[in-house]
Amino acid sequence: MRVLDSEFVQGFIRMANDGWEQGWHERNGGNLTYRIKKEEVESVAEALNKEGEWEAIGTSVPKLEGEYFLVTGSGKFFRNIIIKPEDSMAIIELDDKGENYRICWGLVNGGRPTSELTSHLMNHEVKMISSGGKHRVIYHAHTTNVIALTFILPLEDKVFTRELWEMATECPVVFPDGIGIVPWMVPGGRDIAVATSELMKEYDVAVWAHHGMFCSGEDFDFTFGLMHTVEKSAEIIIKMLSMRPDKLQTITPQNFRDLGRDFKVTLPEKFLYEK
Ligand code: 13P
Ligand code: ZN
Repeated sequence: MRVLDSEFVQGFIRMANDGWEQGWHERNGGNLTYRIKKEEVESVAEALNKEGEWEAIGTSVPKLEGEYFLVTGSGKFFRNIIIKPEDSMAIIELDDKGENYRICWGLVNGGRPTSELTSHLMNHEVKMISSGGKHRVIYHAHTTNVIALTFILPLEDKVFTRELWEMATECPVVFPDGIGIVPWMVPGGRDIAVATSELMKEYDVAVWAHHGMFCSGEDFDFTFGLMHTVEKSAEIIIKMLSMRPDKLQTITPQNFRDLGRDFKVTLPEKFLYEK
């Protein structure tokens, strides 16, 4: 099958374009990677080039040895993915140590995978293990309202989680584990990848202060939906704070406990502190 005809590639393109339309991907901002299923790799096997040069990942992800990923290219604009997918993205294969990758398809005009490949692959490894193989999508976006909040809220997991949960009743159901915060760090390297993947052991969402967000999920719908829910909640905080500096009423810790019981989600008590 032609790579572009396959459902997983079409789903990837749709998600990337949805992110562009949300305004989360100015210029080349953001990146998206998908761990391809074995049967999906087989369905496009004849279109894959297995002669490419091996390149260092910059870290070691041994549990991902031999896995294939669909990834956005570094410096490529999300706006263009829908019209020139073969120029904007690539399928890569990892070697048997999980230390090198090679390009098997795409990036037809040259280039390399996203500069955040180290973060993506370290997150994939952590989430593949913690989800028993279910999580396949890692998404990084420059979400305007969450970024704005990183200038005014303390950079603490418990503060961000609680404030975001309070803004919409469904939030604790969508991200019951909460969200983690990475303080400002230089992007594109191993240090920020280590810090993010450490948080991903506990959460499906990590905020990069003054930069954006990382989300992990089982498929394109759940991962996009998670990013969208967190960012919408951040937008409500911004709207609320622009009307008045404090809340007249809100969802209380006991309300959250009642919600958790009826919706059958475990909400960690550390987020239900008295303010
Ligand atoms: P890339 O174009 O290399 O994917 O980088 C975009 C970005 O958002 C870096 O954090
Ligand atoms: Zn970024």
